[in-house]
Amino acid sequence: MNNKIIIINGPNLNLLGEREQSQYGSLTFKDLKEICLNKSKELGLNIKFSQSNVEGEIVNTIQESRKNFDGMIINAAAFTHTSVAIRDALSVFKKPIIELHISNIYKREEFRHKSLISDIVNGGIFGLGTDGYILAIIAMQKLLENEN
Ligand code: DQA
Repeated sequence: MNNKIIIINGPNLNLLGEREQSQYGSLTFKDLKEICLNKSKELGLNIKFSQSNVEGEIVNTIQESRKNFDGMIINAAAFTHTSVAIRDALSVFKKPIIELHISNIYKREEFRHKSLISDIVNGGIFGLGTDGYILAIIAMQKLLENEN
C-alpha cells in the first residue's frame, strides 16, 4: 500500500508563529507538525515531517526519499525561487509531489512570483495559510489512492 509521505519544509519555517504573522499566521511549527501528524493518522497515512535551513540537506533528504516514501509535499520556502539543485533532486523523485506555500507568493514581491519547481510537480497549493498543509495531505492521499 502506498501510504508513506514526507513533508519537507525549507528555511525559516521552523520560526512559524514568530515570523511575519501577517503572511504566515500564528500557528507554531510544533503545532503545525502535530496537526499534520493527526490528520495523516486519520487518513491512514504514514508521514514524516521534516525541516531544514540548509539547501544541501534538503537535496539529501529528497534523494533519500526516493527509497522510503511514496509521495512528497514540499514547502521549499525561499529556495523555491532560487534552487536549481532542489529542482534537479525533485526531478528524480518520480512519484507524486505537491508544492505548498502558506502565503500567496503571486501577491507578494516580484522575486517570489517565480517558482523553479512548479512545472515539475503534480500540483500546488498557495495562499491558504497553514490550512494548506491539511489540504495538501488530503490531496496526496487521493493521488496515492488513484495509483493503487
Ligand atoms: C513561503 C513563501 C516563500 O516566498 C518564502 O520565502 C517562505 C515561505 C510560503 O510558505 O508562503 O519562506 O514558501
